[in-house]
Order: sequence, then C-alpha cells, then structure tokens
Amino acid sequence: MKKSTGSKKVRTAVFISGAGSNLKNLIKFSKTKKSPISINLIISNTYNAKGLKYSERYKIKKKIFNSNNDNLFEKKILYSIFKEKIKFICLAGFMKILSKSFIKKFKGNIVNIHPSLLPKYKGLNTHERAIQNKEKFSGCTVHYVTAKLDSGKIILQKKIKIKKNDTPVSLKKRILKYEHVLYPAAIMKTLG
Ligand code: GRF
Repeated sequence: MKKSTGSKKVRTAVFISGAGSNLKNLIKFSKTKKSPISINLIISNTYNAKGLKYSERYKIKKKIFNSNNDNLFEKKILYSIFKEKIKFICLAGFMKILSKSFIKKFKGNIVNIHPSLLPKYKGLNTHERAIQNKEKFSGCTVHYVTAKLDSGKIILQKKIKIKKNDTPVSLKKRILKYEHVLYPAAIMKTLG
C-alpha cells in the first residue's frame, strides 16, 4: 500500500508483548511530518507487556486480549481494528503467531521486525543461536508478514558485526538500536 500524496496518514496499529522499545520509537516517528503512518491503536496479548505504558504516555488507545482462545482472540482484534479504521499493522515483539485467515485479511499490510539476518534464525533465541554458531554477522530485518513464520518478503535489512566478546544480551542491545532506525526506514520504503 502506498500513501497517496497529500492524503492523511495511514491509521496504524502496533502489536506488542514486551518492553515496547520499537513501539515507543514508532510512535515518535509517527509524529514527524514525513511519517506516512499515525499510530492509533496498541494491541497486546498480555497485561504484562511493559510497553503498554506508552499508551498513557502518548494517549493512544490500547487493547489487551487474552490469547488462550485463538479464534476469539483474533475476532476481538479484528473488531477493534475495524472500529479504529486501522489500515496497517506493525508487529513489534508480538509473541503470538497470527492465523492464515487473519493475515489474508490484511495481505501486504502487516509488517514485522525480526532480530536476525533473515532467512537465517527464524523464530526465538536468535542472538543465542547466532553466537553459538560462531556467526561473524547478525542484524535485523523488517519483512511483510505471511502465514509462514518470519518468511515474508524482506523490506529492509541491517547487517552488523558480532564482536568476539558479545553475549546474547550485549548483541540484543546493540541490534535493538539498529532496529529503531530500520523500522521507520522500512515503513517509509513501503508506504512513503
Ligand atoms: C525486538 O528485538 C524485535 O526485533 C523482536 O522482539 C524484540 C522486541 O523488543 N521481534 P521491544 O519490545 O520492541 O523492545
């Protein structure tokens, strides 16, 4: 989807489950003039997501849905997305796999950030695995979401060197900084 010139910003929801540093960063980006998106909804599958605090801080609506019942969970998400006229979805540390039919409804309009050089290290514990395998490089990737986990078309990728003394924690911290640059850039590329 391209935002047509002169039109309003694309109403966007960010899905989170954790700290929400990408959410915070996307909110800040969304407030810049050049941003093609506005963030109008935060969705979490857990009350424990620390990132939910940004809802109050930035006065953005939030919805928390228990994800134990998949079918109901997605129905509730769809309802709130419809109500808020959301047209674009950014997954940012969302630890729940969305169903094929959900993804189909938003085809091409759901993106995700993943902390590895996809197609390498899909799934969890990417930093641990990259270090264990003595990889020289790691990084982060923004990609379209498809029914296959972490496998959709890549929008942008940033490659960084793994240092000799890197631990999963230090690597995660360093990559996260690049994620905060990459995610807005990828949104500009796909919607700008
Ligand atoms: C990031 O590393 C992101 O790439 C991954 O989950 C982490 C979320 O971090 N999908 P945060 O909640 O945005 O701080």
